[in-house]
Amino acid sequence: MTPDRTDRNAASKGVLYPTGPLLAIESSCDETACAILSPQGTVLAEKVISQEAHAAFGGVVPEIAARAHLALLPDLARKTVEAAGLIPSDLRAVAASTGPGLIGGLIVGANFGKGLAIALGKPFIAVNHIEAHALSARLPGVAKEGLVFPFLLLLVSGGHCQCLAVEGIGQYRRLGGTIDDAAGEAFDKVAKMLGLGWPGGPQLEALAREGDPKAFAFPRPLKGRVGCDFSFSGLKTALARQLEPYGNTALPRALAADLAASFQQAVADVIEDRVRHAFAMMEPPTALVAAGGVAANGVLRACLTRIATDHGVPFIAPPLRLCTDNAVMVGWAALEVCREAARRGLLMPDDRRMRPRPRWPLSEMAERFSE
Ligand code: KG4
Ligand code: ZN
Repeated sequence: MTPDRTDRNAASKGVLYPTGPLLAIESSCDETACAILSPQGTVLAEKVISQEAHAAFGGVVPEIAARAHLALLPDLARKTVEAAGLIPSDLRAVAASTGPGLIGGLIVGANFGKGLAIALGKPFIAVNHIEAHALSARLPGVAKEGLVFPFLLLLVSGGHCQCLAVEGIGQYRRLGGTIDDAAGEAFDKVAKMLGLGWPGGPQLEALAREGDPKAFAFPRPLKGRVGCDFSFSGLKTALARQLEPYGNTALPRALAADLAASFQQAVADVIEDRVRHAFAMMEPPTALVAAGGVAANGVLRACLTRIATDHGVPFIAPPLRLCTDNAVMVGWAALEVCREAARRGLLMPDDRRMRPRPRWPLSEMAERFSE
């Protein structure tokens, strides 16, 4: 891999729209992922490893995640480049999630990306992980008719729960978010209380199919309240109270199923109410978009489809592999940002000097385009 001197000089001046394949890296939580995208956004190769070592702890352990990224990433990147039929010097740029997220994993992914970019004499693009989720539904082929701004995004995963007005590249308005647990976190904690494995969301949904969603009248926190903030901790406590009489004894399955179904319904009702409020907080969106692992939930999807239909817009949920953490969305966000900079006649700075950020508010993303 001999650095190309011309490219090295070009990279130091700033980032131009890549003229060839781009390698993207995701390592902000417990997925180690790489993808290669063409300049048009065609996915040439993608690989993801969902770290399994966390299951025994019932949640993501940051230090274990960071060590796993360190162990897995170099080989995964090499195999992804090979799967695309390329050699490293074919790459024209490297992008990585550089925040927000778990700092250990971000340091591993961003530094690996920067090191490779420097070795190749190519630019490095630091991608905001939430921005990547926000733009993932614009990937070619996801929305049948394409997806134009502004759209309403509901991001619901193990770490995030928020509504965003996505008004343009770099223009994101947070309409509201959770004041305690993220939706997926609530699913995982309740699943654990019901004796299910981790991650709990899919297992809780499966158990809920056997139960009655009306069996328990759980609270609907913040329902009807102005704005679109979310809260799930009261709901979790209400469920814990129902379990008290059982102490350490195993729950009858029918009861566990009723609890799961009633909890899931309460979460869906809360999200429905909050999303309806979000619609009123922005100029009419072109679509309702969902992203994040919880967007896989069937009851929630049905709910969101209903809300979108009531507003006369499509409901768009990218396929699950793009909803959960992945590197394709990271590469796509990098391309979108480069394209926007080019459209404005700007040269973005090469991000090799940017430090990984555990917090990186979306409100700062417009700064990329300030002249
Ligand atoms: O986006 P994701 O893969 O990872 C991050 O958290 O970044 O989301 C994982 C979360 C977990 O909390 C998992 O329990 C939840 O999404 N989840 C679900 C379902 N599938 C995954 N929650 C409810 N119903 C599901 N079917
Ligand atoms: Zn994520």
